[in-house]
Amino acid sequence: MRLFVAIDMDAPVQDALERLQENLPFGRPVPPEQLHLTLAFLGEQDTAMAEAAHEALEAIRFPAFEIRPKGLGAFGADVVWAGLDDPAPAAALNAKVMAALRGVGLVLERRRYRPHVTLARFPQPDAERLAKFLAAQEAFPCPPFTAESFVLYRSTLTKSGVAYDELARYPLQGAGR
Ligand code: 2AM
Repeated sequence: MRLFVAIDMDAPVQDALERLQENLPFGRPVPPEQLHLTLAFLGEQDTAMAEAAHEALEAIRFPAFEIRPKGLGAFGADVVWAGLDDPAPAAALNAKVMAALRGVGLVLERRRYRPHVTLARFPQPDAERLAKFLAAQEAFPCPPFTAESFVLYRSTLTKSGVAYDELARYPLQGAGR
């Protein structure tokens, strides 16, 4: 199964990002309920490794923290994403998650972590139109929320697109206080 670890967005942030997506002149927007901040991409793993990953993730202790999507960026002309007002806590949690997963023998990508929420993908990239969108929408309004948990997701390709199933949810410390 194909696995990743992420933080999902709360409803007001989903709404704010959906309004932004509505201004996109082209491309394939990520459905609001699938918007997320990836912490680690595990790729294809068997059940035993998934179980080991789950146990490692359960042992993580990390404080709940505020997330506010802010600013826009793109990976090439294929993907547009929202950045974070303060990427530091997400980067610190990413480091903990990666260390925990490597600790149980998972081989993970060594790419530099850039916290982002993917908003849309472009099967037919158009760099010029994308640049105009980025410039016009860069200062989009979005409320903050407190991330109180993170999730192990299974991603499955279906005929109607990608489906994400929540396999386990891990609370962050001090959540709900
Ligand atoms: P994203 O975070 O930029 O959207 C599930 O596929 C999630 O894991 C996606 O949100 C995806 O990108 C992220 N991801 C990170 N590295 C990936 C990779 N090498 N292949 C596919 N998805 C990856």
